Amino acid sequence: MTGAPDPTKAQKGLAGVSVADTRISKSDADGSLIYRGYPIWEIATNAGFEETAYLILNGKLPTGSQLESFTEGLRERAKVQPKVLGIMRELGRNADPIDVIRTAVSALGSIDSEEDMQGKQMSLEAKMSVLAANSHRVPRGEAPRYPKRNLRFSDNLLQMLTTKEATEYERRVFERVMMLYLEHDLNASSFTVRAVASTLADPYAAASAGLASLKGPLHGGANEAAMEMLLRIKDPAKAGEFLKVAFKEKRKIMGFGHRVYKEFDPRARLCKEYLREMLTRRGGDDTLYRLCEAMETEMWREKRIPPNLDFYAAPIFYSLGIEVPLYTPIFSACRIFGWMAHYNEQLEDNKLIRPDSTYVGPSALKYVPIEDRTLG
Ligand code: CMC
Repeated sequence: MTGAPDPTKAQKGLAGVSVADTRISKSDADGSLIYRGYPIWEIATNAGFEETAYLILNGKLPTGSQLESFTEGLRERAKVQPKVLGIMRELGRNADPIDVIRTAVSALGSIDSEEDMQGKQMSLEAKMSVLAANSHRVPRGEAPRYPKRNLRFSDNLLQMLTTKEATEYERRVFERVMMLYLEHDLNASSFTVRAVASTLADPYAAASAGLASLKGPLHGGANEAAMEMLLRIKDPAKAGEFLKVAFKEKRKIMGFGHRVYKEFDPRARLCKEYLREMLTRRGGDDTLYRLCEAMETEMWREKRIPPNLDFYAAPIFYSLGIEVPLYTPIFSACRIFGWMAHYNEQLEDNKLIRPDSTYVGPSALKYVPIEDRTLG
């Protein structure tokens, strides 16, 4: 066995099948991840969110003036139309935040006044943060929160998400986690975005499809599911027992496992360190960190499955005072930049994405009139 997929057979989940050439990013089984050629730790340590977004979109780190004009372009477009906020409010307090954002993005596609492709994409990139931060508030009838003019992109999202005062270190941690969520080659939502782009549908349509794909717990929904699980377990001493029962019941442990990373997810390693450092600097209770570590140790010992980004990003968001239903919305506010990079790359050398399938059903059946049909 070579491990290469047989091209004549359907490959479940497209595992191991390359469906595009890309210059945007690449994750590898050895635990490496590059953004436009830069190792992820190089970017996470040195760059800011806006710089990283520019890099992912344009292929090169910006000069000072390029960064200024990109940042200003986002600032100018951050205001969400009252009509869109009204539609979000109409959905009511029980609406799922990702459904709220998806509906808002669809509405935006109908009323946005942006004329050209770049304007439309920047409008989505700028507004997605505001939609994410308000996806829980506005449907509950609370007043919307807006970005402030002189803040960094990540500081703005954080101040819209929580009223808790964060330290400078905590704000930098949030920015770095946002950078880790910005792009990740052909994950399910970016693939979805490329499939929609290949039909020549507009970026609003592609982003709303991306949001639909992001919602599920096997993808973007995992950070919320992981946090709910950690809140249920509470005590590091109970991690082993929890996992034992879950394995017996054949339940998946949210925040663990990855299609590409089998040894470790480099983003999870970085976030684990940020969480540890953040709680150490506070000098208070580090139970959450110890619980995560206990889960990680036990999962590796029992299944050799490492934690992924969502597992360690979730407790960081929690420690920053962000409500759990906003974790997947944060993911969308970051990933919109990656989605748009994939949208553009798809269109640079477009061919309609229309794969083949292997038909395994019956054929040559004879039509039976309805009165002659039987059950079974
Ligand atoms: N808990 C328990 N068992 C697991 C887990 C898990 N989280 N992940 C994989 N496995 C087992 C799985 O049961 C299977 O075992 P067996 O061969 O005995 O049937 C084996 O590992 C292979 O799993 P798979 O689901 O076929 O592998 P995959 O490459 O399709 O899995 C995954 C990738 C992310 C869907 C899966 O690991 C999973 O469901 N994880 C939990 C959800 C999650 O954390 N998702 C976030 C992914 S990273 C961020 C993102 O992209 O959004």
